[in-house]
Amino acid sequence: MLIFDTHAHYESEQFEEDRDELLKILPQNNVSYVINQGTDIATSKKSIELAEQYDYFFAAVGIHPEEVKKQEAVSEIEKLASHPKVVAIGEIGLDYYWDVSTKELQMDYFKKQLDLANQLHLPVVIHDRDAHKDVLDTLKSTTMNSSGVVHCFSGSVEMAKEILKKDFYLGFDGPITFKNARVALEVLEYTPLDRILIETDAPYLTPEPFRGKRNNSMYLTYVINKIAEIKKVSPEEIAEITFQNAKTLFGI
Ligand code: NI
Repeated sequence: MLIFDTHAHYESEQFEEDRDELLKILPQNNVSYVINQGTDIATSKKSIELAEQYDYFFAAVGIHPEEVKKQEAVSEIEKLASHPKVVAIGEIGLDYYWDVSTKELQMDYFKKQLDLANQLHLPVVIHDRDAHKDVLDTLKSTTMNSSGVVHCFSGSVEMAKEILKKDFYLGFDGPITFKNARVALEVLEYTPLDRILIETDAPYLTPEPFRGKRNNSMYLTYVINKIAEIKKVSPEEIAEITFQNAKTLFGI
């Protein structure tokens, strides 16, 4: 089985103690590729460093909506994006759950980075928390010459339909394994197999039975098993299809 973790934050201090040990054993445990996501300039740089250090790592660079308050320059992200192992602009988007900056500032950064991705022909990794309408309206009103993924998709089936019309992918994470998962499973059932990506968001969003503990890419087998159960195909097939989907989207 080949596993492609399209969304992780291994630069996080939660991996400070044992990062190298862990990242050395992932490939022996079927994890063939990881895309580490930037959330500001510093973590974007760290994502690139990890990608330089580990062959199976790639990087996304971007300014996350929770970090826009620092008002860092998007031109810095543009410079970082020229690195050969940068495969996406991310993670970018809107987050109305954490009240850390104005909607206007978030929207400004979101649009500027969508434009940057367009200009560089790179896919985007979108974070949408409690901002479904504005994310959808922004995507609908932006002509994209590249595709992308809505990471840890938490919208309705109706929203999924609209996102899929834009030829985007939907990312599924640990929460689909939670007991109270309902809408996410409806969306999963609706989403065609060739539009599904798997993600950890490690160290966050750990699947059952490890919910609450630190996440890592090996736990993606629980996400794969859940998708297999809903889609009524084998876990091996889910791993293979999502692996190919990720390679296609990120051009790897
Ligand atoms: Ni993330």
